[in-house]
Amino acid sequence: MTPALVRQAAAVATTATLAALAPAGHAQTAAPLKVGLMLPATGTYAALGDMIEKGFKLHVQEQGGTLAGRSIQYFKVDDESEPSKAVDNVNKLIKRDQVDVLVGTVHSGVALAMARAARESKTLLIIPNAGAADITGPMCAPNIVRSSFSNWQPAYAMGVVAAQRGVKRAITITWNYAAGNESAKGFTEGLEKGGGKVLKDLTLPFPGVEFQALLTEIAAQKPDAVYAFFAGGAAVKFVKDYDAAGLRKSIPLYGPGFLTDGTLEAQGAAAQGMMTTLHYADNLDTPRNNAFRKNFALTYKTNADVYAVQGYDAAQILGAGLKAVKGDIARRDEMTAAMRKATVDSPRGKFTLSAAGNPVQDIYLRQVQGNNNEFRAVAVKALADPARGCKL
Ligand code: BEZ
Repeated sequence: MTPALVRQAAAVATTATLAALAPAGHAQTAAPLKVGLMLPATGTYAALGDMIEKGFKLHVQEQGGTLAGRSIQYFKVDDESEPSKAVDNVNKLIKRDQVDVLVGTVHSGVALAMARAARESKTLLIIPNAGAADITGPMCAPNIVRSSFSNWQPAYAMGVVAAQRGVKRAITITWNYAAGNESAKGFTEGLEKGGGKVLKDLTLPFPGVEFQALLTEIAAQKPDAVYAFFAGGAAVKFVKDYDAAGLRKSIPLYGPGFLTDGTLEAQGAAAQGMMTTLHYADNLDTPRNNAFRKNFALTYKTNADVYAVQGYDAAQILGAGLKAVKGDIARRDEMTAAMRKATVDSPRGKFTLSAAGNPVQDIYLRQVQGNNNEFRAVAVKALADPARGCKL
């Protein structure tokens, strides 16, 4: 035999041996799974995207660098939280990189474009933050799931709590885009159910931070409470501006937990004592949360927040689906059905996905204490998004 033939024979023998050793179902799935991370790396939501990626990768690392026996190859796009670039950006992952799974994103407007592209191309999409109602409403699809929340969930819970705390007249303030508008609407629904009402919805364009004129209007109207949806860098500025305007002591400021998550070091005294609602609290004293926070802090030298949890759980949901099909992503229908059947053992507490693909989860009332959003109570137990318009 020539040296070339010897090499060829050896290669064939090695492949045959590996195939014989591989568990059933793994034979055609040895190639790395291509995961497309479409997240913001710049702009007001950059820190949120970073924490989601860290959380996702932590779970994969805890599984020895694989999910259901498949190694992972990452492809990344910075979506800049810019809806006008979303179609081009998502096509870089779907068409150019030919990813198996899309994971993204933070901004509801960008996520809506991703969901449209995922529906058309039938690419699996796991949303680790954006709560746009339409994605798990009229646009719902078997290949689209969330590891996070719908914008309605924490907002509705805050409305219920505000009414219980005696709020009769409130003002909402947010950005004029899907997440802000849906959040204000959810809060209004919860508050009205408890007998309160919203006097006015104040908005400014995303990602604007010129709050002064709106704060002056709030001071003039003197509502019982203000409900604000902002996140990331803008949440830091809003909470500080609210305090600096002298409103903190006279008009309680409520919000979904994004207003104080991942932001507390920068907000400092201005955020102390604030009450928010969310599906996570930093100090949940469970073995699962404690182990997650410890490993996250050891790995990244920073504390986990809700966005890290959502990224971690996106990887857990993907892992559950892959496990059911022994890593063979071509068995798409079985895989997405298994993801919907899974009980996700999350740091937030165990949860399942609804038929529409959104977490059914407890929403907690939290209070800012130092650099933590501390658990105070379960605001609404096992809250499911209404999934209005979803037909599956
Ligand atoms: C959204 O656009 O859906 C969103 C962004 C940041 C935090 C929460 C929701």
